[in-house]
Amino acid sequence: MIKLAILTSKGGTGKTTTAINLGHGLALSGRKVLIVDCDPQGSASAAFGVDGHKGLADLLIEGRVDIYQVRPRLYLIPSGKKRLAELEINLAAREDRFVRLKNTFSRLSGCDWVILDCSPSINIVNLNALAFADFLIIPSSLDYFSLEGVKSTIELSHEIRANGNGSGADGRGKLEILGVLPTFYDRRTNVSRMALDSLRNTYGNLVFQTEIRTNTEIKKSQWFRKTIFEFAPYSHGAYDYFKLSKEVLERLTGLGDYE
Ligand SMILES: Nc1ncnc2c1ncn2[C@@H]1O[C@H](COP(=O)(O)OP(=O)(O)O)[C@@H](O)[C@H]1O
Ligand SMILES: [Mg+2]
Repeated sequence: MIKLAILTSKGGTGKTTTAINLGHGLALSGRKVLIVDCDPQGSASAAFGVDGHKGLADLLIEGRVDIYQVRPRLYLIPSGKKRLAELEINLAAREDRFVRLKNTFSRLSGCDWVILDCSPSINIVNLNALAFADFLIIPSSLDYFSLEGVKSTIELSHEIRANGNGSGADGRGKLEILGVLPTFYDRRTNVSRMALDSLRNTYGNLVFQTEIRTNTEIKKSQWFRKTIFEFAPYSHGAYDYFKLSKEVLERLTGLGDYE
């Protein structure tokens, strides 16, 4: 099972859009995928029109949750919204508060991928997600603040790895950065090209070859509760997310033990 968190410390960088479209891209290519909405705002749940009574909050508190099937081979755990935001208080006294997700999901089976759509903050939910995840994708919307977000998220992942999230073969941390993903790319603007150059110069091969271009079909698809593959299969957005799904699978194959 491949456990992938999508996280960066800046909002509006395309995390949720990437979680749902990469998730659907992988499902369309035959993998069984579970998306976990780790954001109290519940955008990933809304994108599929799921507004469950139960959600990740219940899983972290009670160890039980409803899983919704949203497409063939694609499943979702909604966030639980406000209750997820209040989790800090509910779990404060529990010693296992940072590994609740990991412990509960140790019983999860039958799924090839778990994709965690995180919120842009360091909170107990995201720390649970990072304790569970083996891989990280860091989307960067190609502006100055988002480049800062990439830097601080990479630093956070190094800290977690150094402290050991315990999922590596030797029990040490194994949170690997699968890639930094350029999003909202618009090659007509200087700032977009400058930011992309800066990302590639700073992080080299860590940056995906695939750039997700700004594409209004993506925005529209979410209005209609559809993924880009359903809404506009011939759009730039569908092409870019298809390419990303392929590149993600290739990167994992390159790493050996996976796929
Ligand atoms: N490639 C894109 N082109 C155009 N709009 C996009 C693109 N990616 C995301 N969006 C839009 O930008 C907004 C923020 O994206 P979202 O995925 O919710 O970011 P995050 O989860 O990082 O906050 C949403 O309205 C979404 O529809
Ligand atoms: Mg989001």
